[in-house]
Amino acid sequence: MKGIVLRSPGGLDRLESVEMPDPGQPGPGEIRVRVHASSLNYHDYGVVTGRMPAADGRVPMSDGAGVVEAVGGGVTEFAAGDAVVSCFFPTWQDGPATIGDFKSTPGDGIDGYACETVVRPASWFTSSPKGYSHAEAATLTTAGLTAWRALVVDGGLKAGDVVLVLGTGGVSIFALQYAKMMGATVIVTSSSDEKLGRARSLGADHTINYRQHEDWGVRARDWTGGRGVDHVVEVGGPGTLAQSINAVRVGGHISLIGVLTGRAGEVPTAALMAKQARLQGLIVGSRRHQRELVRAIEATGTRPVIDRSFPLAEIADAFRHQEAGRHFGKICLEY
Ligand SMILES: NC(=O)c1ccc[n+]([C@@H]2O[C@H](COP(=O)([O-])OP(=O)(O)OC[C@H]3O[C@@H](n4cnc5c(N)ncnc54)[C@H](OP(=O)(O)O)[C@@H]3O)[C@@H](O)[C@H]2O)c1
Repeated sequence: MKGIVLRSPGGLDRLESVEMPDPGQPGPGEIRVRVHASSLNYHDYGVVTGRMPAADGRVPMSDGAGVVEAVGGGVTEFAAGDAVVSCFFPTWQDGPATIGDFKSTPGDGIDGYACETVVRPASWFTSSPKGYSHAEAATLTTAGLTAWRALVVDGGLKAGDVVLVLGTGGVSIFALQYAKMMGATVIVTSSSDEKLGRARSLGADHTINYRQHEDWGVRARDWTGGRGVDHVVEVGGPGTLAQSINAVRVGGHISLIGVLTGRAGEVPTAALMAKQARLQGLIVGSRRHQRELVRAIEATGTRPVIDRSFPLAEIADAFRHQEAGRHFGKICLEY
């Protein structure tokens, strides 16, 4: 079967298409999955470029979706022919977060889904939403679940809440969609007026170009009549946090999800304290969260926004497309 491996020390020119041995038949508790799609995340980009070093020969990609080909003994949840999607933290099944690293994450600490067939424990997957393509399902593992957990699971989002979403990448567009799905009002920022137009067509109620308006957080707060937003989906980190604190209401919630502007920096701690806001770091979610997300999607019919799909062998070009930053929503691999 075909697959992709990453050679040390990483780099887009160090991604190699290879012939891999067939993984064989599933043992007790396992399933054999014909993987048909993955989707690109900033985390995968960090791994394949070598910024987040992985073992030589690592199979990249955290997201994987496909069809169950065979089930091992004792597997009752899935049957051959079922469409499934992988979990970002295969061993975090339920309960509060206990994992703070990527040692157990496919495509980082262990082999991922940039290959045609895998044999893995059944508990490392959930069902895909009914009616979803494999590419659509693959977008849920990392980006979809992160947005869902930030807003709904940990944010306690309610109809009528105001959500501020930073940028128009994978996580942010999911956050826009899920916030609208839950009856919230949404403000979106972007570096591009064209992307802001697309965000409005997805339901964004107000948009701000963060390149043209460095005080975008103050503008977001002003747009709420001075009250401030209930939730911020923070993907920027140190370079954006001060404006996010300006934007949030007293007692609001900031989900610190990404550090696109850098790994460390100054935080206006007094302003954060005065806002009595909850600043929460979070990484993706549990298998239970993913099952709840799939159920919500099936009830509402929400579909991901896929910017473009590439064949598996063109994985490096797919990452170059992500690197160029012109995408809106998700970039996928289909195979
Ligand atoms: N904690 C977690 O569980 C988790 C999960 C997934 C992703 N992440 C992190 O979240 C971040 C985004 O990931 P992604 O996969 O959605 O990436 P992505 O699809 O590559 O999106 C990146 C987008 O971020 C926006 N952006 C860049 N700099 C910005 C800034 N200064 N202010 C506002 N927006 C800015 C840009 O939007 P415009 O083009 O519209 O300007 C860009 O398109 C990354 O840091 C990633 O590591 C974390």
